[in-house]
Parts: sequence; C-alpha cells; structure tokens
Amino acid sequence: MKKILTQELLLSLTADKPSISPKFFYDAIGSHLFDVITLLEEYYPTRTEKWIMDAYQRDIADAVDDCDVLLDLGAGNCAKASRLFDAIEPKQYWALDISKEYLEAAVADLQKQFPHIEMSAHALDLSLPLSFPDLQKLRKIFFFPGSSIGNYDPEKADQFFANIAYECHGNGGLLIGVDLVKDDETLHLAYNDPLGVTAAFNLNALLNVNRLIGSNFNLQDWEHYAFFNASKSRIEMHLRALTDVEVVLPGNGTQDHLISFNAGDLIHTENSYKYTQERFVEKLRRAGFDDIHCWTDPSDYFLVCFANANKPS
Ligand code: AVJ
Repeated sequence: MKKILTQELLLSLTADKPSISPKFFYDAIGSHLFDVITLLEEYYPTRTEKWIMDAYQRDIADAVDDCDVLLDLGAGNCAKASRLFDAIEPKQYWALDISKEYLEAAVADLQKQFPHIEMSAHALDLSLPLSFPDLQKLRKIFFFPGSSIGNYDPEKADQFFANIAYECHGNGGLLIGVDLVKDDETLHLAYNDPLGVTAAFNLNALLNVNRLIGSNFNLQDWEHYAFFNASKSRIEMHLRALTDVEVVLPGNGTQDHLISFNAGDLIHTENSYKYTQERFVEKLRRAGFDDIHCWTDPSDYFLVCFANANKPS
C-alpha cells in the first residue's frame, strides 16, 4: 500500500499540473482538523445534513423501506448511520472504510448499543470498483453522506453511481448527501474560514506527504488558496508557493527527483463539486436509479436523496 501511494504521489507531484489527492488530507492531524472544520460557523454542510436527516428521519425511512443490509461507504466513526438505525431498522450493518483498525473499534462500540443488528467492518478503497457477491439476494441500501461525492469528478461520479445501481440487482438503493450550489460568498467562506482551520487542513497535506515519501516541503513556503470555480461548479483548493521553491522527492534507491516551483505556482489539492438538485437527480437517473426522493433544508444549502435502483430489464 505504502509503495503504491509513494508512486502515486511522485507521479502527481511531477506532472504538468502538480497535484496531491485529497485522500492525503486525512492523517491523524488532518482527520482531527476536519472534525474541527465541521464545528465552524462558516462550514455549513455537516450540520445542515444532520438537520435534514433528523428532521426527515421518518420520511427517509419510509422511502428506504425494508433494509436487509445498510452499507456505510466511508463509515469513519459510524455516527451518521447509527443515528438512522432506529428509523431504518437495518438487519445488517456493513461499515466500510479505508482504515480497518479505527473502524473495528467504532463498530464494536456500536454493536453494544444495537445488539440486534448484525455488524461487520470491512477495509475498502472507495476509488476502486465495488462488488458484494455474498449479498446478491439481499435488499441493499448504500449510504454515502457528507458530500463525499463532491470530491469525484463528474464522470467518476457517474461510474460510481452506475456501479452501485448494478450492485443493487434491482432491489435496493442509494441514500446520499450532496452540497448544493449557492451564493459565492457563502461558498467562499466555508473554505476560507477566518480562524484558518481550512488553511491548516490544506497545508497539513504537505506534512503528510513529507512523512510518506520523505520529501522536504517547508510550510513557510506555501499558502492556502481556495475559490469557487463557477464554470466547473466546484470549489478548488490549492497550495500556492510564496517564493521560488525547490523540493527533493527521494527516489528510494533510484534517483532523487528535484522539483522546482516559482512564486505563485499551484499544487491542486481538492475539488469539491456543488450540484443543483435538478442536475443531481438527472445524474442519478442516467446511472440507473428511479423513484428518487429529495429532502433539503429551508435555505436549500444541502440535499439528501434516496434513489431506488432500477429493476434489471
Ligand atoms: C469531506 C469532501 C465533503 O469538500 O467540503 C472541507 C472536505 N475540504 N473543507 C468538502 C473539505 C475543505 C469536504 N468533503
């Protein structure tokens, strides 16, 4: 795993347009910084989604109908899914996430609170195709909250949805939360909080990269840069060089790479796509879902959808 990640970073950092995948935000410090972001006044998505899911719990459960297995994609601490257990009453709960250690502890805890639900933890890289042959005959409900879908390029999101629709085999669906397009100012502030937590979250990626590949990025040389790209309907986060910078990427036995940046050069670290309800519902339809239910907050900041997978024809 480490070797693959190192390769991936070497390639993306030496590319024409240097980038670091957003998955490199989430080391121990980055995960804590993200938790702090969700507490910020300016960062509305987490609390707005929670508001929608609490307010419409009954309607969501009615739309979902029977649930043999709730598959939590990127479960983390399992808190979001577990808040819906009493309403949805899943028979089984599968928690899926990249790091299994953390997940197993969270699931063990939850199992004590909900002894009647059969629970399991599974390590899984969500960027790879999903397949659940053991669950073929069961009604599966996939849960993908938090606007995690916002990190996927639109074509990648289409593939991901088609993969899930297929895996439902005509019996199941997708419960998903996604951030909506809104005024520029609100979007901008959510990724440029005055306290600088998002800036720290972004810069921390360089520390994580230094640790993973032994590079020597110096935080002093970089600044947080985030803006709403309206034509692509996405927040873009970058790290911008404050001066001319040279960085050594150790080659691990092979030759070291030296990369140079000029003042003002960018490393792209994240896209966070924002949708309109219409465009998002249309996307789900095209991927193989129908009978799509939508819930939003009074300001239309965030959208929660339940989409039933089409019956195979
Ligand atoms: C976890 C991808 C939904 O895009 O809003 C928060 C990550 N980046 N602040 C988002 C994030 C900067 C977040 N997602």
